[in-house]
Parts: sequence; structure tokens; C-alpha cells
Amino acid sequence: MLQRITDLLNEVSSIIISNPEELELFRLRFLSKKGLLSDLFEEFKNIPATDKKEVGQKLNLLKQKSLDKFNSIKSELIKQDERTEGTDLTKPSFPYSIGSRHPISIVRNELIDIFTRIGFTVSYGPEIEDDDHVFTKLNFAPEHPARDMQDTFYISRLSVEDSSPEDILLRTQTSSVQVRVMQNQKPPIRTISPGRVFRNEAISARAHCIFHQVEGLYIDENVSFADLRQTLLFFAREMFGEKTEIRLRPSYFPFTEPSAEMDVTCKICGGKGCNVCKYTGWLEVLGCGMVHPNVLEACKIDSRKYTGFAFGMGIERAAMLKYGVNDLRLYFENDLRFLDQFRSAF
Ligand code: DAH
Repeated sequence: MLQRITDLLNEVSSIIISNPEELELFRLRFLSKKGLLSDLFEEFKNIPATDKKEVGQKLNLLKQKSLDKFNSIKSELIKQDERTEGTDLTKPSFPYSIGSRHPISIVRNELIDIFTRIGFTVSYGPEIEDDDHVFTKLNFAPEHPARDMQDTFYISRLSVEDSSPEDILLRTQTSSVQVRVMQNQKPPIRTISPGRVFRNEAISARAHCIFHQVEGLYIDENVSFADLRQTLLFFAREMFGEKTEIRLRPSYFPFTEPSAEMDVTCKICGGKGCNVCKYTGWLEVLGCGMVHPNVLEACKIDSRKYTGFAFGMGIERAAMLKYGVNDLRLYFENDLRFLDQFRSAF
């Protein structure tokens, strides 16, 4: 009997158990009611008293070792199970790549940084707006053809033929935030308003139905066009490089008079002319002008006392110029091969 116990002790210490089925076989063979240990204890009752001490010690040792083996393998298997259970096999494996900010966020943050450094605050308005804030108070007359410049997504419309200040729509321009700020604050006002805008446009390399704009507004006594020009020159050089020059071309917006469009010298060719700037040496960046007295009055600001300038630009457009990206759709597709190329302090 002693020899059998010794053999079993060797078996217990050398046996390799690597899964729950093998563990169950081990339990049945050694530890169950009909297992080896219970047989041996049964047999133990019948051995001569003189052998009892030695055999008894060995038998208890075998029992202990079998139990220890069973318990330790069991807890090891449970741990393994926890490690693999619920594992998402599509998860990226080590080394993990740290994400990068979306280029539109980078440019928006940079714009905020540039303008807050010269005293502008940041203000936000709702994306779901009413006609009053997007058009009427910005001097778009009800039948004004300029309303067609921005193809609008309406949420609710009082009449299909005529627009009404109460119509609810997705804002087509962040200029609506100008109105909200002027209604709620007293001059001096210096603020920029970044945000999403929506237009019913066919998606192409140059247009999208959702994009981002930043609106700028400066209202105080004696604000002049020269202040506008200098502010925009500062912005252009901060954003596109210190050698950048700007030019202002006369333009039309209902809410500014006079209105202008600003071009910057093409960064790619340095103004000499290339296919990005269509051999003009200039790239169009934003619209701007002196806030129309009608807009000031509609927002209850005295247009004889105060003047101001405003500007608005597309963030995608600024990002395209900054990074030399020629297809707007890339900003919306979330292709990591594109997004991974943008790393920034902003
Ligand atoms: N809101 C205009 C647009 O979406 C951009 C713009 C032009 C904003 C001139 C302005 C401005 O504040 O003065 O096309």
C-alpha cells in the first residue's frame, strides 16, 4: 500500500492539467466519493496497527497534495477565463496609437487662440435657429434674392411661398450669433463665434451640406475699416505665415456695408502663381465688412454712436489652404490614414 501511495504522490505532482475537462477527470480519479483517495482510506481501516502511523501520514499527504493541486489549477483556470472572456478580437493590439485631433478642431482652436490673444471673446449660438436671427435681423428682406445664396434646410415653415421671421431652420451661417450677442450685450463687443452650419448643397470636393464657420464681430465707437483690415492682416499672418499679404476685394453681403472678400497670398507658390491658386497668386479666405446700420438698429444698438466690423470664414476652407488639402470630403470621411497626419499643439 505504501508503494502505491508513493506512486500516486508522484503522479499528482507531475500530472499536467491544462483545461477544465482534464481537471474534472483528475477530481473524479482522486477526490470524488468513488475516487482513489476514498478507496485508500477504506483500505486503511484494515491494515495492521503497526503500519498505521507511517501509512496514515503518507495517505494524508496524498490527500493534501491532491486537494492543493485541484484548488490551485482551478483558480488558475478561472483567472485565464476572466482574461479571455469578453475579449474583443477586433481591438487594436499593443502598441496602442495615441489619437490625434481632427484637423477642423485644430484649425478652430488655432483661430480661437489667435483672436483671444487680441481681446476677442468666444460665443456660441444654437444650430437650430429661427429666420429672424439667420436672415431678417441681418438685413435680408423677405424677398431678398440673397436668401437664395444660402440654400436652407427648414424644420418648420409658416408658408411655403414666403419666409417669416418665425420659421425654424438649421442655421446657414454663424452670422446669426452676431445678432444674439448684440441683443444680449452692450458695446464694446469683441467676439468670435465658431460653429457648425448647414446648407442644402450637393456634396462635392468644394461643398458639403454640413461645414464649420467662424464669425467675428467688433462693435465700439469709432471702429473703422482700417481696424478691420489690420485685424485681418494680423490673423492671416498668424494663421498662414508671417510673409502672408492680404487683399480686400469689394463684395456684397446684406449685413455689411461696405462689404469685401479677403484673399491671402498663395502659400504654395508664394504668390507667383500655381494650380492651387489658379495662377492668380491669391486664395480667397473670408467675407467681411462694416456692420450695416440696419443690423445695429435691429439689435437695438445706436448706429449713430457705434460702428463695427464683421467677418466670417469657413473653417474647412481655412484648413484646406493651411494644409494644402484639395478635397473637402476628406474632412468628413474619418479615414485614419488622412487624420493621422495631423498633429498639433492646439
Ligand atoms: N455669413 C457669410 C457667409 O456665410 C460670411 C460672412 C461674410 C460673414 C461677411 C460676415 C461678413 O460676418 O461680414 O457666406
